[in-house]
Formats: sequence, structure tokens, C-alpha cells
Amino acid sequence: MNYTVRFSNQKFPPIQIKAHESLADHLTTQNSPVLFGCRTGLCGTCLIEVIGDIPDPTKEEAEVLQILAPNNPRARLACQIDLTQDILIKSDAI
Ligand code: FES
Repeated sequence: MNYTVRFSNQKFPPIQIKAHESLADHLTTQNSPVLFGCRTGLCGTCLIEVIGDIPDPTKEEAEVLQILAPNNPRARLACQIDLTQDILIKSDAI
């Protein structure tokens, strides 16, 4: 099953990604506004805001988010997202 990843930055068209596949494997600087660094949930480079009902962050991701965006319940690390439905990514809001 594919899900649609949309971006608040309208310059980038929506992308179809298979369920549970890593956004870090599909999003590039050419097709999205999201930047990646470590891709392991440590550096925070991929910090985004997500609109969509995806699984809660793991304990490890939650610890990083608590430091980077403590008051934003929509903040997520793009490299750690488990894609289980269509989402909207706001990469310029944090
Ligand atoms: S790329 Fe480093 S935390 Fe996601």
C-alpha cells in the first residue's frame, strides 16, 4: 500500500511512498524540502512538523524531540517516521 507525502512548501509535489518505508530512503533535496544528516535519529537535522495520524515516536525519538522542540506535539524526526497513512510535512514551521 502506498501513502502520499505532501509538503506545505508547494514547490515540491506530493510523493507516493510504500507503507513502513523510510522517508530517508525516498526524500532528497531534489524532491523535498527535508534535509537529512545521520538518518539514525540522533542529529536532529530532519526535524519536521507532521500533520497526520502516524504512530507515536519511540522512546529514543521522543527524547531527542524533547530537546529540539519541547512544546510542539507535531514535531517529528523525518528519518524515524513509520509511514502508516498520508501525511503533510511542514518543514519550515519549526
Ligand atoms: S537525520 Fe539525523 S535525526 Fe534524522
